[in-house]
Amino acid sequence: MTRISLSVNGVQHEADVEPRTLLAYFLRERLGLTGTHIGCDTSSCGACTVLLNGQSVKSCTALAVQADGARVTTVEGLAEDGDWHPIQQAFHEHHGLQCGFCTPGMLMASVGILSENPDPTDQEIRHALEGNLCRCTGYQNIVNAVLAAAEDMRSSAAAS
Ligand code: FES
Ligand code: FES
Repeated sequence: MTRISLSVNGVQHEADVEPRTLLAYFLRERLGLTGTHIGCDTSSCGACTVLLNGQSVKSCTALAVQADGARVTTVEGLAEDGDWHPIQQAFHEHHGLQCGFCTPGMLMASVGILSENPDPTDQEIRHALEGNLCRCTGYQNIVNAVLAAAEDMRSSAAAS
């Protein structure tokens, strides 16, 4: 067992973990944060995407011990004070989901994209989301949602 200490959605946690425990399983099974989905376990689907120190990563490809000392954000940490994050609002308004299984990963990957590129093109979004699979939507509404969230976030930043 290895002792780790990390911040998840702003809450500090300490835990003893097996060195082989994947971050995805730590989040789901130890912390009960089941919004992080596991669709493949082989780094193919992106359903497990979270932010690790602000960068999107597939949490089935990271060990929990690699998050020692880090700041992790899961889909449960996106809303603030009961208000949806702009990306959640945009997915809702632009019908960026159907069954919702891919959605937590899509949301977290999208937040990662927008933190690096606040004004992405349609093609840049498609390229950046290549590692996130959706079997339902055909992707167009997801791209529309990310474009809308980007515009919303740029307007908010300009106004503040
Ligand atoms: S569960 Fe991690 S990429 Fe599919
Ligand atoms: S909404 Fe069903 S997998 Fe994307």
